[in-house]
Amino acid sequence: MARPKVTIIGAGMTGSTTAHWLAAAELADIVLVDIVEGMPQGKGLDLLEAMPIIGSDVNIVGANDYEPTKDSDIVIITAGMPRKPGMSRDELLEVNAKIVKTVAEQAIQYSPNAIFIVLTNPLDVMTYLTWKVTGLPTHRVVGQAGILDSARMRAFVAMELGVSVENVHCYVLGGHGDSMVPLTRHSNVAGIPLNQILPPDRLAAIVERTRKGGGEIVSLLKKGSAFYAPSAALAQMVEAILKDKHLIVPASAYVNGEYGLKGFFFGVPTQLGRKGVEKIIEYDLNEEEMAALKKSAEHVQANIAKLEEILAKLG
Ligand code: NAI
Ligand code: 2OP
Repeated sequence: MARPKVTIIGAGMTGSTTAHWLAAAELADIVLVDIVEGMPQGKGLDLLEAMPIIGSDVNIVGANDYEPTKDSDIVIITAGMPRKPGMSRDELLEVNAKIVKTVAEQAIQYSPNAIFIVLTNPLDVMTYLTWKVTGLPTHRVVGQAGILDSARMRAFVAMELGVSVENVHCYVLGGHGDSMVPLTRHSNVAGIPLNQILPPDRLAAIVERTRKGGGEIVSLLKKGSAFYAPSAALAQMVEAILKDKHLIVPASAYVNGEYGLKGFFFGVPTQLGRKGVEKIIEYDLNEEEMAALKKSAEHVQANIAKLEEILAKLG
């Protein structure tokens, strides 16, 4: 049986690190695409040469065109600019919209049956754009943000309590930005809700650090943004899809009435399997949680309105 094929567009920090995680897990043959000549080819070859050492039988190639991406099962979009210190993800909208539009238009021509996973920021808006440009059914386009935001919260809780990260389950919903919604009532440590195991001031500090988690890494790195954890999150989504795991993770999916929201992509608990997004799970949210989610949704919708203006100008 042919191995699955995953194309990663954008072979920068997140793209190449995602290739690394996928190759190490022997999940799929990988095609890295970038506009920089020689770079995806060089990274692809270097990674391929690591396979005998780690004992993984996958093929990895790099390219500056889309022919080698033909018939991919999954296309991941990481092409675009990352943030600089002090910059918000929203400030990337115009420049990244042009890039994501171009790459999605090309990728869909070669892989009309693929599931598209988007990483480029501002995430929820770029996922919407990919859906619009490809014309795919909504369940075959999904954005990565929630696994990363939740993993950050899980790491902070595990450090605070000195427990295994495996015991910590956190759920961060909403748009991938400062208005994201860490759900403290639903998050838990071995079944005990966070708000029962942590004092309010410590819990508030963890929520705040989670919201600003991306910015914390940007200000430490000075150049570029986080890539290990975002790429691990992408790899988890790829595995869930290729292995048809029916895995429930927070991700940016098309809402069609769930949580009272409709017609755009937004961070919600999403069940992933071989067909892509199988289902959106609806938590029982209280008034305060619902209000926070609505506020975050308004922010994403305002950015989608800006995107539509940009697309109208691009023609
Ligand atoms: P990077 O700068 O290391 O890599 C981006 C790559 O895209 C570069 O190699 C660049 O040459 C390439 N590229 C630009 N235009 C292209 C085009 N038309 N076709 C093909 N490739 C093109 O940036 P990094 O760190 O990989 O981040 C990529 C994007 O992902 C950024 O927008 C960043 O903000 C976002 N991001 C989102 C996360 C999330 O959780 N949703 C987490 C981490 C990053
Ligand atoms: C992050 O949260 C840059 O959005 C990316 O790290």
